Amino acid sequence: MKKLKQAQVFTPPWATNQMIDMLDQNLLSDHETFFFEPTCGDGAMLVVIVDRIFNELLKKYGDKTQALADTLFKFYAIELDAELVPKARKRIYDWAVSKIERELSELEMYLIARSLQQSIENRDFFEAMNHPIDAPSGAKAISRKLRNKK
Ligand SMILES: C[S@@+](CC[C@H](N)C(=O)[O-])C[C@H]1O[C@@H](n2cnc3c(N)ncnc32)[C@H](O)[C@@H]1O
Repeated sequence: MKKLKQAQVFTPPWATNQMIDMLDQNLLSDHETFFFEPTCGDGAMLVVIVDRIFNELLKKYGDKTQALADTLFKFYAIELDAELVPKARKRIYDWAVSKIERELSELEMYLIARSLQQSIENRDFFEAMNHPIDAPSGAKAISRKLRNKK
């Protein structure tokens, strides 16, 4: 195998799908569950996660617009490398547009872009984990475990 010195390896879709297959599939569409991608890179894993959420919500609602609207509020992702954040946002934006299969209004395009600005942020996982208010609950649990180990 070719030796990689300084390179990033993003998770292939089949691996992300296998991980999601291990979950209770109801989690993808219930109202209480949110997904946190702590190191989203260029969104390689995230796009598979949102697609799986969308498919479950579509089964539930039978309406693509409603499924998409809910999907966009069911995840939060962060990435340390500022150059990757716009790539991740663009990847999810393109994915969202491809799901609707019609011309979007300017307002719809703006709302999707605006929502992605908030749900995919340039942050350090360790900073986010220690933030008392907006740390995702999973991150808080990891943070508590790490503190208890000291
Ligand atoms: C190997 S990539 C994985 C990306 C994506 N999760 C995937 O599996 O395709 C790891 C990413 O973690 C990011 N990263 C490293 N340390 C981080 C930190 N403390 N907070 C947020 N992101 C971080 C890197 O910049 C890199 O983009």
